[in-house]
Amino acid sequence: MSDASWPANRRITIVDLQEATDRGERWAMLTCYDTLTAGVFEEAGVRALLVGDTSGQVVLGYPDTVPVTMDELVPMVRAVVRGTTTALVVADLPFGSYQAGPQTAFASAVRFLKEGGAQAVKLEGGRRVLPQVKMLTAAGIPVMGHLGLTPQSVNVLGGMRRVQGRGDAGDELLADVRALQAAGVFAVVLESVPADLGRRVAEELRVPVVGIGAGPHCDASIMVWQDMAGLTTGRLPRFVKRYADSRGLLLAAARQYVGEVADLRYPDQAHSYA
Ligand code: KIV
Repeated sequence: MSDASWPANRRITIVDLQEATDRGERWAMLTCYDTLTAGVFEEAGVRALLVGDTSGQVVLGYPDTVPVTMDELVPMVRAVVRGTTTALVVADLPFGSYQAGPQTAFASAVRFLKEGGAQAVKLEGGRRVLPQVKMLTAAGIPVMGHLGLTPQSVNVLGGMRRVQGRGDAGDELLADVRALQAAGVFAVVLESVPADLGRRVAEELRVPVVGIGAGPHCDASIMVWQDMAGLTTGRLPRFVKRYADSRGLLLAAARQYVGEVADLRYPDQAHSYA
């Protein structure tokens, strides 16, 4: 990681991300939904933070990303922006906030930029959302695409764990990413596709390809932070690597606290006002 090539006193822009990709430097993204965590990730060198609709699941407890709303996401975007000074903040357009057409997409994206302070938005889909992408980019709003597994389509995909883009579907996906790039996206998230397809997409596109379960050849990587830090449990996708046992740490700390309260060891003199 070369910090010298990244701005220290201003926000990273989509131009900085493109330049890093052009010089062959791989960069990391994480999802983020609150101020304190945002500051930690920025300090760690995460260049861009996505206020993802996964917050519907990992923060709000919905079964999937479909129910989460703009009104729920805007305060999280604001919180992440407040907690950072250099990271680029991308706000995820939730299900229902852009599919109806370019005007709806524009109104939603404007809320994320004006009320949330985000620098860019993300939306799911390929050729079917080109009018939206064109409208937003023409209005000066940086757009990140999202292809492969698109969780907002869980009800037509028949589940969330399926690898996308196998066989002929790979050519369809390539046509989608080409169309997105031509429409002006600044980057594309590529989720849950075979590594070989990830490589083909990264070779084909000039804009950065941000992989999540797309193999080792993408230009950048993104993970849901609770997966990366080991807070989520249960059956996780193969691409999830747990870099810490945050759940174990929190559980141990909370258990110790509960025990000390019960044993009258907390609060003690040292943690009381004279
Ligand atoms: O909402 C989200 O967190 C995402 C990532 C999984 C890429 O879209």
